[in-house]
Amino acid sequence: MDKKSTLTGVHEKWKRECVCELKNTAIQAVPGDGNPEAEIVFIGEAPGKSEDEQGRPFVGAAGKFLEEMLSAIGMKRAEVYITNIVKYRPPNNRDPLPEEKVACRPWLMEELGAISPKLIIFLGRHALNNFFPSEQISKTHGKLLVREIIGVPTKYFYALYHPAAALYDGSMRETLMEDFKKIPKVLEEIEKRKREEKPPKTLFDLS
Ligand code: URA
Repeated sequence: MDKKSTLTGVHEKWKRECVCELKNTAIQAVPGDGNPEAEIVFIGEAPGKSEDEQGRPFVGAAGKFLEEMLSAIGMKRAEVYITNIVKYRPPNNRDPLPEEKVACRPWLMEELGAISPKLIIFLGRHALNNFFPSEQISKTHGKLLVREIIGVPTKYFYALYHPAAALYDGSMRETLMEDFKKIPKVLEEIEKRKREEKPPKTLFDLS
């Protein structure tokens, strides 16, 4: 099966089976959206009001800003894949609760498995801490993180401040823009590391 069909199956399955309590208050699920063949997956926190209404992630002010930053590095939204750790809007946009993150986790993991991106980019501390609970966004933003996580199809991660937090904070906005502009270099660095990786030894290696 191709990635697009696999991903469609993942979303259909989890729209039925996700046990997140936020289902009771949200208008609808907001699955990830974008190119199933994407090299980059962006992961945000949870849908807001506009996303809940439209059923698509990052369609409000933060989404517009994200698209602006993508265009500053010569990329279009349609080239990447954008999703959230939590697939339903928390009431009044409060922070998602730990149990809501846990309930939506298998959906996110299957999404990542279907796409198998080269790089996962966290938008904000909730996304970062969902994978790396002891890292601080203030220390890790703008740096390539290389770690193996069971069930995650890449070992390359990059954290950014959340576009919604940076929208109205001049200095955070500047930092986010600087970090964002490093993404093409981050992708080059991953390619370089992959080229230098030694292939695993096999039983037939006679050297
Ligand atoms: N903020 C997020 O984290 N996700 C969205 O989808 C929109 C805003």
